[in-house]
Amino acid sequence: MSRVAYVDGRYLRHDKASIHIEDRGYQFADGVYEVLAVVGGALVDVADHLKRLDRSLAALAIAWPVSERVLPLLMREVVRRNGVTEGMLYLQISRGVARREHAFPARAAPTLVMTARAVPPARRAALVATGVKVVSLPDIRWSRCDIKSVALLPNVLAKQKAKEAGAYEAWMLEPNGTVTEGASSNAWIVDAQGSVITRPLGNDILGGVTRLRVVDLAREAQIKVIERPFTIAEAKAAREAFVTSTTAFVAPVVEIDGVAIGDGRPGAVARKLAALYERHAGVPLGA
Ligand SMILES: Cc1ncc(COP(=O)(O)O)c(C=O)c1O
Repeated sequence: MSRVAYVDGRYLRHDKASIHIEDRGYQFADGVYEVLAVVGGALVDVADHLKRLDRSLAALAIAWPVSERVLPLLMREVVRRNGVTEGMLYLQISRGVARREHAFPARAAPTLVMTARAVPPARRAALVATGVKVVSLPDIRWSRCDIKSVALLPNVLAKQKAKEAGAYEAWMLEPNGTVTEGASSNAWIVDAQGSVITRPLGNDILGGVTRLRVVDLAREAQIKVIERPFTIAEAKAAREAFVTSTTAFVAPVVEIDGVAIGDGRPGAVARKLAALYERHAGVPLGA
């Protein structure tokens, strides 16, 4: 099945789809995005993603390109037209097309682009089975990381560093050594008592939808959740560590900067949370 992209009201062949060269998303990274998982043909946690999208749009004073009621219908149509049963939907809204000037244009219609693609579920399962490696590096981002903006250059550079080091993720550090989050995931550790620790929401991290769900799922499973900053030294000495994101769900961390975490294998708490999250997302047991 050939891929289809949604661009401002039209369904186009993916390889022919394009936007205007003066789109502000392209010229200024003046836009926001969401990534949603598709499991069994259905989008996961749609309401939470729409809520975060609304928050991001409001923070940048970008109007909804279509109503909040219609958008999920279009999202499902993009998934359907691409024949995706297991995979992801990408959605981007920019401030729109205007003559290049930094300040907001007086009139610009926001641009909405959506794509969907299949991702083999085995790829995610492999992350849980083997665990992932993390490297740490300075967080060089701006002070509004809570907005899911398409301005991802520091995240791109961090992820590239991780890749070059043979790692899955980069954890970004404040000058005092506290971990903010991963380049494309939230960061967690497990202490000696089996409590899970993750940084509280604030301007310095993206409020991950997976993070939100895992906080709830952990509490329901009587696992204590402590929302506080932790340092990279604490993480290296932790019993377990893991990351959460829409693409990885819950992935155990087995190594940070070459230091084995716990016994160097995926930890029991992370594996339990991974299983609970999979069930929440609708992944069939044993898949
Ligand atoms: C910087 C950053 N933090 C955290 C996350 C995790 O967010 P979510 O669980 O909503 O995918 C992402 C996801 O892309 C991210 O880019």
